[in-house]
Amino acid sequence: MALRNIVIQGEPCLQKVCRPVTEFNHRLHVLLDDMTDTLAEANGAGLAAPQVGVLRRVCIVMDEGSGEYLELVNPEIIAQSGEQTGMEGCLSVPGKWGIVTRPNVVRVRAQDRDGNWFEAEGEGMNARCFCHEIEHLDGHLYVEHIDHFLTDEEVREYLEREEAEAAAQEEV
Ligand code: NI
Repeated sequence: MALRNIVIQGEPCLQKVCRPVTEFNHRLHVLLDDMTDTLAEANGAGLAAPQVGVLRRVCIVMDEGSGEYLELVNPEIIAQSGEQTGMEGCLSVPGKWGIVTRPNVVRVRAQDRDGNWFEAEGEGMNARCFCHEIEHLDGHLYVEHIDHFLTDEEVREYLEREEAEAAAQEEV
Protein backbone atom coordinates (compact mmCIF):
# COMPACT_ATOMS: atom_id res chain seq x y z
CA MET A 1 0.00 0.00 0.00
CA ALA A 2 1.17 3.47 -0.75
CA LEU A 3 0.01 7.03 -0.89
CA ARG A 4 -0.67 8.48 -4.33
CA ASN A 5 -0.34 12.09 -5.36
CA ILE A 6 -3.69 13.91 -5.62
CA VAL A 7 -3.80 16.08 -8.73
CA ILE A 8 -5.16 19.61 -8.56
CA GLN A 9 -7.80 21.35 -10.72
CA GLY A 10 -6.24 22.35 -14.03
CA GLU A 11 -4.71 18.91 -14.71
CA PRO A 12 -6.19 17.51 -17.95
CA CYS A 13 -6.84 14.08 -16.34
CA LEU A 14 -9.62 15.65 -14.24
CA GLN A 15 -11.57 16.51 -17.39
CA LYS A 16 -11.49 13.12 -19.11
CA VAL A 17 -14.23 10.52 -19.32
CA CYS A 18 -12.84 7.45 -17.55
CA ARG A 19 -12.96 3.97 -19.08
CA PRO A 20 -14.77 1.07 -17.39
CA VAL A 21 -12.76 -1.49 -15.43
CA THR A 22 -12.76 -4.82 -17.25
CA GLU A 23 -10.10 -6.74 -15.33
CA PHE A 24 -10.51 -7.31 -11.61
CA ASN A 25 -6.91 -8.16 -10.99
CA HIS A 26 -4.08 -7.42 -8.57
CA ARG A 27 -3.42 -4.10 -10.25
CA LEU A 28 -6.99 -2.95 -9.48
CA HIS A 29 -6.68 -4.13 -5.86
CA VAL A 30 -3.45 -2.17 -5.40
CA LEU A 31 -5.15 0.92 -6.86
CA LEU A 32 -8.12 0.56 -4.47
CA ASP A 33 -5.84 0.03 -1.45
CA ASP A 34 -3.69 3.01 -2.39
CA MET A 35 -6.74 5.20 -2.98
CA THR A 36 -8.19 4.31 0.43
CA ASP A 37 -4.86 5.11 2.12
CA THR A 38 -4.61 8.37 0.21
CA LEU A 39 -8.18 9.35 1.10
CA ALA A 40 -7.66 8.54 4.79
CA GLU A 41 -4.39 10.47 4.87
CA ALA A 42 -6.09 13.48 3.22
CA ASN A 43 -9.00 13.22 5.68
CA GLY A 44 -11.51 13.44 2.83
CA ALA A 45 -14.98 11.98 2.28
CA GLY A 46 -14.35 10.56 -1.17
CA LEU A 47 -11.76 10.06 -3.88
CA ALA A 48 -12.03 9.16 -7.57
CA ALA A 49 -9.33 7.44 -9.65
CA PRO A 50 -8.77 10.39 -12.03
CA GLN A 51 -7.75 12.40 -8.94
CA VAL A 52 -4.70 10.13 -8.67
CA GLY A 53 -4.17 10.24 -12.44
CA VAL A 54 -5.85 6.92 -13.30
CA LEU A 55 -8.55 7.20 -15.98
CA ARG A 56 -10.68 4.26 -14.81
CA ARG A 57 -14.20 4.18 -13.37
CA VAL A 58 -13.20 3.63 -9.75
CA CYS A 59 -13.96 5.63 -6.63
CA ILE A 60 -13.95 5.38 -2.84
CA VAL A 61 -16.68 6.87 -0.69
CA MET A 62 -16.49 7.13 3.09
CA ASP A 63 -19.70 6.28 4.90
CA GLU A 64 -20.52 9.23 7.11
CA GLY A 65 -22.12 7.09 9.82
CA SER A 66 -19.58 4.29 10.24
CA GLY A 67 -16.47 5.93 8.80
CA GLU A 68 -15.96 2.84 6.63
CA TYR A 69 -14.70 3.10 3.09
CA LEU A 70 -16.84 1.76 0.27
CA GLU A 71 -15.11 0.73 -2.95
CA LEU A 72 -17.12 1.42 -6.10
CA VAL A 73 -16.02 0.02 -9.45
CA ASN A 74 -17.98 1.02 -12.57
CA PRO A 75 -20.61 2.79 -10.44
CA GLU A 76 -23.78 4.31 -11.81
CA ILE A 77 -26.66 6.13 -10.19
CA ILE A 78 -29.83 4.12 -10.79
CA ALA A 79 -32.30 6.14 -8.69
CA GLN A 80 -32.43 9.45 -6.90
CA SER A 81 -34.97 11.46 -4.95
CA GLY A 82 -35.40 14.63 -2.94
CA GLU A 83 -33.09 17.58 -2.83
CA GLN A 84 -30.45 19.02 -0.48
CA THR A 85 -28.43 22.19 -0.66
CA GLY A 86 -25.16 22.32 1.24
CA MET A 87 -21.45 23.00 1.37
CA GLU A 88 -19.15 20.93 -0.77
CA GLY A 89 -15.42 20.74 -1.36
CA CYS A 90 -12.96 18.56 -3.27
CA LEU A 91 -9.42 17.31 -2.55
CA SER A 92 -8.49 18.48 -6.05
CA VAL A 93 -9.68 22.01 -5.24
CA PRO A 94 -7.99 22.39 -1.85
CA GLY A 95 -9.09 24.98 0.68
CA LYS A 96 -12.18 26.01 -1.25
CA TRP A 97 -15.88 25.44 -0.71
CA GLY A 98 -19.12 26.07 -2.55
CA ILE A 99 -22.85 25.56 -2.16
CA VAL A 100 -24.22 22.74 -4.32
CA THR A 101 -27.73 21.33 -4.66
CA ARG A 102 -27.86 17.53 -4.98
CA PRO A 103 -30.47 14.79 -4.64
CA ASN A 104 -31.04 13.86 -0.98
CA VAL A 105 -31.19 10.10 -1.59
CA VAL A 106 -29.21 8.26 -4.22
CA ARG A 107 -29.12 4.59 -5.16
CA VAL A 108 -25.96 3.32 -6.82
CA ARG A 109 -25.17 0.12 -8.68
CA ALA A 110 -21.50 -0.84 -8.79
CA GLN A 111 -19.04 -3.73 -8.81
CA ASP A 112 -16.77 -4.67 -5.93
CA ARG A 113 -13.03 -5.37 -6.32
CA ASP A 114 -13.79 -8.90 -7.52
CA GLY A 115 -16.38 -7.86 -10.09
CA ASN A 116 -19.52 -8.74 -8.12
CA TRP A 117 -22.40 -6.33 -8.71
CA PHE A 118 -24.10 -4.77 -5.69
CA GLU A 119 -26.35 -1.84 -4.87
CA ALA A 120 -25.89 0.80 -2.18
CA GLU A 121 -28.07 3.65 -1.02
CA GLY A 122 -26.88 6.92 0.44
CA GLU A 123 -28.72 9.76 2.11
CA GLY A 124 -27.62 13.29 2.95
CA MET A 125 -23.83 13.58 2.99
CA ASN A 126 -23.42 10.06 1.60
CA ALA A 127 -25.74 10.83 -1.35
CA ARG A 128 -23.80 14.04 -1.97
CA CYS A 129 -20.56 12.08 -1.96
CA PHE A 130 -21.83 9.43 -4.42
CA CYS A 131 -22.88 12.18 -6.86
CA HIS A 132 -19.61 14.10 -6.47
CA GLU A 133 -17.33 11.07 -6.98
CA ILE A 134 -19.28 9.59 -9.89
CA GLU A 135 -19.19 12.99 -11.63
CA HIS A 136 -15.39 12.87 -11.41
CA LEU A 137 -15.47 9.72 -13.58
CA ASP A 138 -17.06 11.74 -16.37
CA GLY A 139 -14.56 14.57 -16.10
CA HIS A 140 -16.69 16.94 -14.04
CA LEU A 141 -15.91 18.90 -10.88
CA TYR A 142 -18.41 20.33 -8.38
CA VAL A 143 -17.20 23.83 -9.24
CA GLU A 144 -19.33 23.59 -12.41
CA HIS A 145 -22.40 23.76 -10.13
CA ILE A 146 -21.45 26.84 -8.11
CA ASP A 147 -21.62 30.55 -8.86
CA HIS A 148 -18.78 31.44 -6.47
CA PHE A 149 -16.38 29.99 -3.92
CA LEU A 150 -17.45 30.76 -0.38
CA THR A 151 -15.51 33.45 1.45
CA ASP A 152 -14.04 32.60 4.88
CA GLU A 153 -16.88 34.65 6.37
CA GLU A 154 -19.52 32.65 4.46
CA VAL A 155 -17.94 29.34 5.52
CA ARG A 156 -18.00 30.47 9.15
CA GLU A 157 -21.65 31.54 8.92
CA TYR A 158 -22.60 28.26 7.23
CA LEU A 159 -20.92 26.13 9.90
CA GLU A 160 -22.47 28.19 12.71
CA ARG A 161 -25.93 27.77 11.16
CA GLU A 162 -25.36 23.99 10.79
CA GLU A 163 -24.32 23.75 14.43
CA ALA A 164 -27.37 25.75 15.57
CA GLU A 165 -29.67 23.54 13.49
CA ALA A 166 -28.12 20.36 14.89
CA ALA A 167 -28.48 21.69 18.44
CA ALA A 168 -32.13 22.63 17.80
CA GLN A 169 -32.81 19.10 16.52
CA GLU A 170 -31.30 17.56 19.64
CA GLU A 171 -33.67 19.60 21.79
CA VAL A 172 -36.77 18.27 20.02
NI1 NI B 1 -13.74 15.73 -5.70
